[in-house]
Amino acid sequence: MTVTIVGSQLGDEGKGALVDLWGGDADVVVRYQGGDNAGHTVVEDGEEYKLSLVPSGAVRDKVGVLGNGCVINPRTLFSEIDALRERGLEPDVRLAKRAHVIMPYHRRLDNIEEEAKADSDEDLVVGTTGRGIGPTYEDKAGRRGIRVGDLLDPEILRKRLEYVVPQKKALIEDVYGLEAGEECDIDALVEEFTEFGRRLREDDMAINCGDFLAERREAGENVMFEGAQGTLIDIDHGSYPYVTSSNPTAGGAATGSGVGPTVVGQGEVVGIVKAYLSRVGEGPMPTELKNDERDEELADFIREKGGEFGTVTGRPRRIGWLDMPMLRHAARVSGFTGIAVNHLDVLAGLDEIKVGHAYELEGDERLTMPATTERWDECEPILKEFDTWPEVDWTEVAEEGYDAIPDAAQDYLEYLSDELDVPVYAVGVGPDRAQTVHLANPFDQ
Ligand code: GDP
Ligand code: IMO
Ligand code: MG
Repeated sequence: MTVTIVGSQLGDEGKGALVDLWGGDADVVVRYQGGDNAGHTVVEDGEEYKLSLVPSGAVRDKVGVLGNGCVINPRTLFSEIDALRERGLEPDVRLAKRAHVIMPYHRRLDNIEEEAKADSDEDLVVGTTGRGIGPTYEDKAGRRGIRVGDLLDPEILRKRLEYVVPQKKALIEDVYGLEAGEECDIDALVEEFTEFGRRLREDDMAINCGDFLAERREAGENVMFEGAQGTLIDIDHGSYPYVTSSNPTAGGAATGSGVGPTVVGQGEVVGIVKAYLSRVGEGPMPTELKNDERDEELADFIREKGGEFGTVTGRPRRIGWLDMPMLRHAARVSGFTGIAVNHLDVLAGLDEIKVGHAYELEGDERLTMPATTERWDECEPILKEFDTWPEVDWTEVAEEGYDAIPDAAQDYLEYLSDELDVPVYAVGVGPDRAQTVHLANPFDQ
């Protein structure tokens, strides 16, 4: 049995919290794309863990796998593992030998390119996390990347670096007119990354991901796929070019881990939905709360109450009403079999609640999103107003179950479920694991 967790909007929907909730029934938790651009939060009995690379199942002592579709910065990985150890956890993390490695020059180039875009035209800026994600995937597609398997063999590592580093140096110096630094020092890179390889070998962390997962499945184990980012920042299905460089959508779980699409498809695919929208980074957002002072006050209130500041970069997140064309698109692309709706508590006590039910584009009403970002930017939301719900004791609601959710909030959830034609499996009413109203466990479906 597999369960795939997918962000259905723009990232930060609360995926970590649901991976943690249902991860109790998983044996292995697999990240299939992205890298340390992700920031997944798990709160267990008030204890908060912010995870960038270690799969969220670590908090429950599950085996965590970083699949071949991931890009891995070993500096971040080992400091995260060490920090978790200091907090008393023993994370068991395995890395696909086919996964690509984020090298220091990738980070440098990520930042250089963002600056170059800003100098050329502010509209080009993506607002990346600066973690080197895009440049690493570029090298993967360009067949000049460094893979986890290469770290295990210093001679191969050196050979690859001797080819690629002079190219990066030329790019930094001759194209951008900057000075290359230690990120282009081949000897230092070989030394540092061979040491990472030694640790991977010593701790038996490097695996053939597809084989590993096949064996675990044959032994009857449950696998959970933990998507990072979200559908609208998917390189293929998102708001290109304001996207990340991987496939957070469910198809990525197969290509990014080495199991067949039928394996993912026979399991459950759960879309994680935030009850409103947040976006960190650039790009259109038709339901963004920014039209007037009242909108901005509302956005500030939601941002403060929901703690909407980037986990990785600390940037304030942009805020908007729920966007149904976006969710219809997400549900179709990933084939959601169910959804979890988070942050219902954050909308409590407002004096208005709206949802972008459809868009108006050139006088036509549209229920789904246009394929180009420029057209999407021209869409005006057709807003539907909902009754508001009051602030209540959400921990008590979570204990009592669905019927304790205020009626107006139940109407909101039922509207979502009807429009997307999928059941609601869980409702988040606070950050803690215990603050979740649990309707169904996808591992039991
Ligand atoms: P992820 O990247 O999708 O895992 O989400 P993040 O961890 O980046 O952001 C979600 C934030 O909201 C975290 O601080 C969570 O602890 C918090 N959170 C998750 N679910 C809920 C919820 O239902 N209500 C509230 N108030 N906060 C939540
Ligand atoms: P989680 O897994 C929200 C955004 C960045 C930027 C764009 C490209 O926590 O939901 P990148 O560094 O990936 O090249 O940046 O994608 N972004 C995220 N936004 N949540 C994330 O991850 C994100 N990961 C990347 O802000 O707009
Ligand atoms: Mg996050």
